[in-house]
Amino acid sequence: MTWGVGRAGLTRRRAAIGVRRMKILIVDHEKVSRANLADKLAAHGHELATVADGQEALDRLQTEAFDVVFTDAKVPKVDGIDLLRWVKQSGGSDTHVVMMSSNGSIPVAVQAVKLGAHDFIKKPVPTDKLRALLAEISQQRGGVDAANLAPTASQRADVQRTIIGDSPAMDRVRRMIRIAAQTDANVLIHGETGVGKDLVASVIHRQSHRSDGPYVKVGCTLLPPSLIESELYGHEEGSFTGADQYRRGRFELAEGGTIYLDDVDDISLDQQAKLLRVIEEKVFERVGGNRPIRANVRVIASTKLNLLDKVREGTFRQDLYYRLDVLRLRITPLRARLEDIPALTEHLLRRIARGQPCHFEAHGLDVLSRHNWPGNVRELYHTLERAWLIGGGTISAELLESDLESSQADEVEDVFHDLRPDPVRAVEGGGFKAAIDFAEKQLLIEALRSSGGNKTAAANSLGMKPSTFRDKLAKHGLS
Ligand SMILES: Nc1ncnc2c1ncn2[C@@H]1O[C@H](COP(=O)(O)OP(=O)(O)OP(=O)(O)O)[C@@H](O)[C@H]1O
Ligand SMILES: [Mg+2]
Repeated sequence: MTWGVGRAGLTRRRAAIGVRRMKILIVDHEKVSRANLADKLAAHGHELATVADGQEALDRLQTEAFDVVFTDAKVPKVDGIDLLRWVKQSGGSDTHVVMMSSNGSIPVAVQAVKLGAHDFIKKPVPTDKLRALLAEISQQRGGVDAANLAPTASQRADVQRTIIGDSPAMDRVRRMIRIAAQTDANVLIHGETGVGKDLVASVIHRQSHRSDGPYVKVGCTLLPPSLIESELYGHEEGSFTGADQYRRGRFELAEGGTIYLDDVDDISLDQQAKLLRVIEEKVFERVGGNRPIRANVRVIASTKLNLLDKVREGTFRQDLYYRLDVLRLRITPLRARLEDIPALTEHLLRRIARGQPCHFEAHGLDVLSRHNWPGNVRELYHTLERAWLIGGGTISAELLESDLESSQADEVEDVFHDLRPDPVRAVEGGGFKAAIDFAEKQLLIEALRSSGGNKTAAANSLGMKPSTFRDKLAKHGLS
């Protein structure tokens, strides 16, 4: 195997210089609210400047460096959004911008956060909120210095070594990982099954300043609706039958680190409301308890669906969507970046063979490039693994061809991918198909048991259409 591995297109970004006493610019045309805010900020010991319109703000920003800009969204001459855009695109992109508005308009909030605002707040700003906000900004600015923000050579090599692919799409993914790793903003990863969402989420965590903290994955599809609340937030002793001692939930376990909500679209509407509160207020209570617990947790969520469609359908809360989708990372399906196949094949074969002999017939690449890969990189992995096992270390183009033809005719449901049987046992005990059938039957039984025999709920818990679920029950003689 002689194919090269792609280069990561990572760029350096200017770093913030750590400061505790901050220099703050207030941009607000309303005299009273401008003066009130200035008083409150000065009382916290910060250095203040105030202006009444966006043009004046630009004049100041062009000649002076500010740590933070508090701007009303609707200031005259140059509005708050344009000011924010200017700040983020200019050399002052490290300045924290806090957007303010009297009416708390959601579209403006979304636009502001997308353009890089640190936060969006409704005026008048409550003193406790202001204190928390300043502490957060001060910590972020005080805790970072150039050395922390610039990726080390080993960090760059890590992304390059783990996220394989020479295509521009994968270059973009690596760039986004680097940006995501530098901030604490929530991330929404979007892509079909098997494109690498889990992999990307774990690399973002590993590269972020939270890497010493825990990384907790929650498979939202696999958790029945009745259990998700106590799984996420834990429960107090005696809060329901069987809860004979308190239990910490995933948010508590992820304290100081990252929580990865896989298939976040599967969370029910009532649980979405709770999740929104944790994300917005960074606080939650265990089930059956009323003691608020602080959540210092970064949220990365993934979805295979277009969440905006779900928002339009009314099955996903719009406010939660905007809170999760601060940084969006879309991973292109493998069929649209076939140029990644050689490097991926080399990488995956190394993982599969683990030092054992591995010979790949070069013509095999043509075969792999003709397939459309509905299961994306995971499907490529399994295809290569089967071929390697069956060919005793030699991956023949002919075998790949016939395997891919048959897999197209007999597509395996996505939902079973996580129950990958031990490949050696699978081959000895009746082959890959037999192992998949076994795992499939176990899943169906498990889902039926957890839903108390309710087939629709069981199908939902598996992320499967009820009709597909019923067909599979019939296939296994369970209907
Ligand atoms: N760019 C890549 N470089 C190296 N390995 C990759 C890449 N993309 C995916 N993989 C590998 O492919 C497999 C599937 O990836 P992963 O589990 O992250 O997919 P996913 O998008 O989370 O899928 P699903 O939606 O089904 O959960 C993993 O073994 C992962 O390591
Ligand atoms: Mg996944």
